[in-house]
Amino acid sequence: MDGGSGPGPEPVTAAGPSPAPELAPEADPDVEPLPRGRFRCRLCQVAAANRPSLAEHLRGKKHQRLRSLRAERRAQEQRSLFVSGFARGTAAEELAAYFGAFGEVVAVVMDKEKVDTQMEQLVGLLELSEGERRLRHLLVTLFQEVFSEFFPGCTVLPFGSSVNGFDAHGCDLDLLLDLEPTKSLQTSARGAPGARSSGDPGAEESILSDIDLASASPPEVLELVVAVLRRCVPGVRRVRAVPTARRPVVKFSHKQSGLAGDISIDNRLALHNTQFLRLCGEADKRVRPLVYAVRLWAKQQGLAGNPAGGGPLLTNYALTLLVLFFLQTRSPPVLPTVARLRELAGDEDRMVVAGWDCSFPQDAALLEPSANSESPSSLLAEFFRVFGDFDFSEQLVSLREGRVLPLPEAGEPFKLGSLNLQDPFELSHNVAANVNEKTASRLGRCCRDAAKYCRSLQYCRKSTKGRGWGLVRLFKPGAVEPGAGAGSFLISITVAAAQPPSQLCEEPGGHGFKEICAAIAFVLRDVLQCSCVPGKPLKQVGASGAEHSLPQDTVLGDEPLGDAAGLEEEPLQPPVGSKRPQSDRMDGTALPGAKRPRVNGPEEEVVASWSCAVWHRVWMGRRRLRRQLLHGASPEEPDGVSLELEQKVSEAIVQHEGAARPPEPLLRFEASAQLAGGTQRELRVLLRLAPTPAPGPLFRDFFHFLQAFLPLAVQQHLGWGPGAAPQS
Ligand code: UTP
Repeated sequence: MDGGSGPGPEPVTAAGPSPAPELAPEADPDVEPLPRGRFRCRLCQVAAANRPSLAEHLRGKKHQRLRSLRAERRAQEQRSLFVSGFARGTAAEELAAYFGAFGEVVAVVMDKEKVDTQMEQLVGLLELSEGERRLRHLLVTLFQEVFSEFFPGCTVLPFGSSVNGFDAHGCDLDLLLDLEPTKSLQTSARGAPGARSSGDPGAEESILSDIDLASASPPEVLELVVAVLRRCVPGVRRVRAVPTARRPVVKFSHKQSGLAGDISIDNRLALHNTQFLRLCGEADKRVRPLVYAVRLWAKQQGLAGNPAGGGPLLTNYALTLLVLFFLQTRSPPVLPTVARLRELAGDEDRMVVAGWDCSFPQDAALLEPSANSESPSSLLAEFFRVFGDFDFSEQLVSLREGRVLPLPEAGEPFKLGSLNLQDPFELSHNVAANVNEKTASRLGRCCRDAAKYCRSLQYCRKSTKGRGWGLVRLFKPGAVEPGAGAGSFLISITVAAAQPPSQLCEEPGGHGFKEICAAIAFVLRDVLQCSCVPGKPLKQVGASGAEHSLPQDTVLGDEPLGDAAGLEEEPLQPPVGSKRPQSDRMDGTALPGAKRPRVNGPEEEVVASWSCAVWHRVWMGRRRLRRQLLHGASPEEPDGVSLELEQKVSEAIVQHEGAARPPEPLLRFEASAQLAGGTQRELRVLLRLAPTPAPGPLFRDFFHFLQAFLPLAVQQHLGWGPGAAPQS
């Protein structure tokens, strides 16, 4: 709330009409001296090479504007009052009326709404700017001009994210080169008497003179397009035909703009599904924020995207359809089904393309407004809840019907897969046919983790400590997995506890935390050939107060406790206080050296930590190598093979890559393990990986491999895997 009293003090220097006393520029509290006489302005985050340029910067418009903005914000802060604890549903007007008794209330800002604000801001942050749109338009015009010279009558039509309402900075430029008019022109020109020798410029000067477009095969047409692009479109680079794609395309990039694009020669349906997506985005104002949020989340989780050459991830198109389906299935629905849209279509909207009915109204204003009143942020939470518990492989997601249907019979053209998502118009097309079982199950798991996070206070409430909250934390890679902090990735390892938890760390035969940590280090170092250097040595204090020595490659230290329940109030805290000798377990028994997972507040935890480096792509091609090493015997998953074999597989990969260590590792990460609870029979340890620098696709690939491999290998090493003998 903004109470509207006088402005508060500006602690730095006043920015007002009266000139501030001349200070030596380096005496400005915003200025930080740098080596070699350079300076940095902390406020504007710019460096100045010397004192005169620093002085110039401090007098400059940008610095002055930021200073007065800061002064304004600080003054606002002084006049604002944070109020909490009032009943859900209290109107802003009621608060204004109540606090009006103490002074003028200028504005009431409801925190609850800020989450939704984050979602709207997300759209603003990601969508194309006007300049970017203009640039795309200019490129389309350029392509149109050039292609028209060679293919008279042709049209270049954009589709996909540039024009479907779900655009994002740097998204592809998908184009359809419609050659149907050219084919007709060519046919009629050829049919005309003497046409070939008449000097008709459209036919003679074009590269078409010797080619009959109507009878040319798609690869031949693509080669023509490649030739035109390479020779005649300025700035176009990396042109190549992909004739084997489901919809053959020519790929290109544009040097000056950095844009990548595809040109299709046969994809009229895409024009209509693009129009359909656009209609959905315009039909309800919650659609775009939700789609943007889900797309960014899925990208950060490595679940969706359009990698070159395909891959097992959801395409952005498939992911968008999944969100639209979800909105069709709310009660009451946010969006109409495609069948309902067909009913609403007027005569002018009737359209059949390639045998598929693509009739729907072109104008969103003709649609009935939704009676659904859920907020975008609660819809996002519901999206995760619904798909966290969804059987993707056993039912057909139908946007046409707005409900799930039984799977089509085998033998029908629809390609069944781990995720069955029917195109809204081309009903025989599974838009998620490329998604493999692993990605589908990871989608479910990530949705469950995200749904759990959405139930936490952090999702709903602004952090009082200035930490990431709401969507911000949801979009950190891997951060919503239980226990992960910003930018870290979690692996949960469960192993048998041979002793009651109270004795776990003291009895030699059971698998206590120490043994599990030693097994983790063994798998990383000896099985996967990673470097694995223990962190700073510390000693663990047990229940009795006695110090326990730790395995050689394990170091225990105080570390923040993660969000094992996904419900903590703040993200991981910096270490506070000292180790506590004992803590309560969830079942009430004492567990030396570890604490029960935090639910509502920060606690410290004893952890083991390592600095790790990965030198070879030890996660790639393991299945094939296993098969070869077993001389053709059917390969089993890691839980059924020995660690000895896994060691040999890693060695083979290392040999194949040249045996010698490369000068730099492929990946570096800090790993820390912590006890996350468990039962009398099982212990759960969370291993957190924090990659440096920020994780890229390579780290994600490694992580997804390790997530499946490590728990089984650790169990195996401890003698708890199927048919395994203890190895330590
Ligand atoms: P994308 O998956 O590239 O979606 O498909 P996008 O929204 O353009 O996302 P970006 O470009 O990766 O950000 C592009 C278009 O291709 C058609 C759709 O029209 C989609 O909008 N398409 C894609 C299909 O018709 N069927 C498919 O299975 C996939």
